[in-house]
Amino acid sequence: MDVKIFAHRGASSTYAEHTRAAYLQALADGADGVECDLHLTADGALVLIHDDDLDRTSNGTGPVADRTLAELRELDFASWKGATIPPEYGGTAGQLLTLDELLDILAGAGRAVRLAIEFKYGAFFDAGLVDAALDRLAARGWNATDSVAGNVEVSFMSFHPEAVKYLAERVPAAQLCQLLEEVEVAELREELDVGPIAGHTLAFILGRAQAAGEGLLDDGTAGLAGPGVDYLRANPENAARWLAAGRTLRVWTVDSAEDLRLCLAAGVAEVTTNRPAEMRAMLGRAVETA
Ligand code: G3P
Ligand code: CA
Repeated sequence: MDVKIFAHRGASSTYAEHTRAAYLQALADGADGVECDLHLTADGALVLIHDDDLDRTSNGTGPVADRTLAELRELDFASWKGATIPPEYGGTAGQLLTLDELLDILAGAGRAVRLAIEFKYGAFFDAGLVDAALDRLAARGWNATDSVAGNVEVSFMSFHPEAVKYLAERVPAAQLCQLLEEVEVAELREELDVGPIAGHTLAFILGRAQAAGEGLLDDGTAGLAGPGVDYLRANPENAARWLAAGRTLRVWTVDSAEDLRLCLAAGVAEVTTNRPAEMRAMLGRAVETA
């Protein structure tokens, strides 16, 4: 099978995630597509950032949603990674990307590429983020019939079943991905620093959301099944059922040969990786040079 490679937040093992450099490197590495997470700024711009706050991936602090795009442009989103960004990738300044700027980069790829957009939500779904992204895409010629804008084929992903249901009314099922994650109660408790009762309550709530997401794959609302590697390892029967029902398996985040073997054995068609060049090599695909 010709397994497609999506660069997770760009070539994020090489350069800081979601930066111009990470995406340019992903294209140079021969990725078939790229993945990104979106946030809305205080003035309604769509920026590529994973976390709700700025602390981990920039020299700023506090919620992304409290800052304007101009304020975010003042921050350094690259240096925390410790990799020097070459001048042809724009240097340290200018590494923050909007969705439009990522689409410009992909339009310049000179070949067909894929874009997987993830919409992140906490407990509550709010349509504003999805609407803003679909509006921007439509302004660039994307249409809901083929989900293509120029040379870019766009797919949409979320862990939140309400977001997937909302998207299902607006994008083709074949380009709609229900993400799934293996939930470990002990890890959750540690991460959130809560006691056993609160930890189990949270796990119960997450488990219900998970079941709802699995249902959207069973009934075909979403045509792409997006389990994490840990979920795939723990629930191979679910992946096999969705594959048999005609869903496409897109697994994240696949960085090792061991995880790739698991994916290949399970019939996975698309892998999302921080290491697109290494993944190409593991799959025995040479990087084409222009
Ligand atoms: O591609 C899906 C994957 O990105 C989901 O997890 O936390 O890396 O956004 P996360
Ligand atoms: Ca993501």
